[in-house]
Amino acid sequence: MTYTPAADRYGPFPNQADKPASAPRSPYRRCGRSGLFLPQLSLGLWHNFGAPGPAGISDEREFHENARQMCFTALDNGVTHFDLANNYGPPPGAAETRFGKILKEMPRDEMVVATKAGWTMWPGPYGDFGSRKYLIASLDQSLRRMDMEYVDIFYHHRPDPGGTPIEETMAALEHIVRTGKALYVGISSYSGKQTHDACRAMAKLGGPPLLIHQAYYNMLGRGIETDLLPVTAAQEMGVIAFCPLAQGQLTDRYLKGIPKDSRAGSDPRFLKPQNINDALLAKVGKLNDHARQRGQSLAQMALAWTVRNPTVTSALIGASRPAQIVENIKAFTNTAFTAEELKLLDAILAG
Ligand SMILES: NC(=O)c1ccc[n+]([C@@H]2O[C@H](COP(=O)([O-])OP(=O)(O)OC[C@H]3O[C@@H](n4cnc5c(N)ncnc54)[C@H](OP(=O)(O)O)[C@@H]3O)[C@@H](O)[C@H]2O)c1
Repeated sequence: MTYTPAADRYGPFPNQADKPASAPRSPYRRCGRSGLFLPQLSLGLWHNFGAPGPAGISDEREFHENARQMCFTALDNGVTHFDLANNYGPPPGAAETRFGKILKEMPRDEMVVATKAGWTMWPGPYGDFGSRKYLIASLDQSLRRMDMEYVDIFYHHRPDPGGTPIEETMAALEHIVRTGKALYVGISSYSGKQTHDACRAMAKLGGPPLLIHQAYYNMLGRGIETDLLPVTAAQEMGVIAFCPLAQGQLTDRYLKGIPKDSRAGSDPRFLKPQNINDALLAKVGKLNDHARQRGQSLAQMALAWTVRNPTVTSALIGASRPAQIVENIKAFTNTAFTAEELKLLDAILAG
């Protein structure tokens, strides 16, 4: 290990509330009804960990060093949770390969590493969807790419649109835990009803409870509030909110145009320049003004807002440079919202 983690990387744990923190660090929440604490800020490796090019960095060595420093900065700030998937790149698999190299320098047992399968990964009928055949083979490939013996969390990445019986998908997840390839399992982007059905199928099998649901949630995308959160609360599952900054739209990134080194400017696979339109900017401008009044950046306010509901265990951000992680961690110095403020924010968001 050439990286030495910051000595003060942990703030107080939930059962050590009297421990003084020397700097803002990520606080932790228990993930549903489990023994596992997750940081309220987690780092996802969907973008900026594949081939160089994004973030305005085309040189491989510079890009790798940036990725390395993002992982180290995260852990130095108490962000112990790193989220991957088989298909993160580009090309698919590249983020896991890069992360595997970085992980060799990091303290594995201080980290919660997640990966997933559920979207297209390899050609033919066995490289996609939700079959036992695909999920088990894909996790084996992920473990080889990251050179790990097990992951902490393995997810089914999306409900299978092709009709794999949920009993088969859950049996695959149960097998994965039983064989020690993952310590916990979860699901992503299932609806409330699909989540309920998955939990029921897993319970029928006598399998491990689904630890966590990974769902799209941010100020601009609140669908889970009515559909999913009542189900996850009833099932006592953790929830991790992906894209809490709406891929950067809920930051000051685009207030003065589209920077060349931004996601919309340099890697528009998912966030396209046309998404940054006048209606969005009008809303974001108002949100930014309100964040300033709270003494926060817009990114910090958006993250505090995402975890305002205690059943949302963690906000799963992406970053293109270490400084963004440092800025985002400071969200936790002010997470309180008055009822009046929440009403005002609702009005801005509805406008
Ligand atoms: N389960 C699923 O289906 C699914 C789907 C999507 C994502 N995910 C997970 O969620 C993770 C996060 O997704 P995401 O990257 O879209 O999250 P996000 O946090 O909404 O957006 C991240 C982007 O916001 C910008 N940003 C972050 N902090 C900033 C700051 N302080 N100031 C200005 N800009 C800032 C950066 O964009 P620039 O590049 O412009 O700097 C960064 O790349 C993924 O890595 C993945 O693990 C899961």
